[in-house]
Amino acid sequence: MKKLPSSKPKPMERNIAMELVRVTEAAAMSAARFMGRGDKNLVDLAAVEAMRNVLGFVRMDGIVVIGEGEKDEAPMLYIGEKIGDGSEPLVDIAVDPVDGTTLTAKGLAGAISVVALSARGTMHCPRNLVYMNKIVTDAEAKDVIDIDAPVSENIRRVAAAKHKKISEITVVVLDRPRHEKLLEDIRRAGARVKLISDGDVSAAIEAALPETDVDILMGIGGTPEGVLSAAAIRCIGGAIQCKGWPRDEKEKQTAIDKGEDLKKVYTTEDLISSDDVFFAATGVSTGDLLKGVRYFSGGAFTQSIAMRGRSGTMRWIEARHNFDKLEKLDFMKYAETRRWAQSEP
Ligand code: FBP
Repeated sequence: MKKLPSSKPKPMERNIAMELVRVTEAAAMSAARFMGRGDKNLVDLAAVEAMRNVLGFVRMDGIVVIGEGEKDEAPMLYIGEKIGDGSEPLVDIAVDPVDGTTLTAKGLAGAISVVALSARGTMHCPRNLVYMNKIVTDAEAKDVIDIDAPVSENIRRVAAAKHKKISEITVVVLDRPRHEKLLEDIRRAGARVKLISDGDVSAAIEAALPETDVDILMGIGGTPEGVLSAAAIRCIGGAIQCKGWPRDEKEKQTAIDKGEDLKKVYTTEDLISSDDVFFAATGVSTGDLLKGVRYFSGGAFTQSIAMRGRSGTMRWIEARHNFDKLEKLDFMKYAETRRWAQSEP
């Protein structure tokens, strides 16, 4: 019998996450040179340049879906930019060269460099929304969360699903004035709180990993960070739910005029609709998830994670980089030498 051609795209055989680690390592090593110098733009610029450079060498036909902004405001890694050597697979790309530029500029813990890829057309960023309200938990509790339910109810359900007392549940929240009521509700419910000053991608990963001391992430953070978190969660297991959170009436009206349904709950699958998803992150400054860049004479150590949606495998990768040798390799030369030159007083 003649076989009918399948309309389904072929699953990706190659684990691109292993190549993406080189991308986030390069960005982290460039950005970390500017730790504590008080200039978040410099941190970002260093990371963007290095990331763009190394991404260009990855074997893929990529389009930036989440990047540094629109074409007219970002010279590199802008939305719609084509990246890769142009060969298969066709992919969507999301980047956050440093999630935690302020953390890095202040020399604080927990900044990471992040990249995610998924099959072309499967990464959805609700761009009309700057911020989203988010809830994240791990695989054991993923079916019981509901962003529309009261905070205390979500905590109670997660505690029951994880066979824990409410006083043993830890909720991670961005430390922002907008979270005053949320914090009050969490504390009244009797759960523990972990406040972070920035970096909710790293926090979302911690909430999705059952072996960390964080059980739930709650609160309002950036929309692109929500999609990047969804990419990681699609690999790890667990779930994210997000809902648009306009800052004021004007932002609300603009979103509605552009067709955004503010009642819509975006699930992990809405944001990343394929198992062909890859995620990599490297620590910039040491935090609870990853160690930051540690320089030694002539090189640096990095720690990264690489994940793949299809297999669910997550790898922690420790690397020792030799700058003398790397400078001789074309793909690192540009980023590294420029950063070296600029970072000298
Ligand atoms: P950076 O710009 O310093 O990298 O901050 C990133 C971040 O903390 C995200 O992790 C988070 O989603 C978002 O900013 C929160 O936005 P805001 O700081 O405006 O509350």
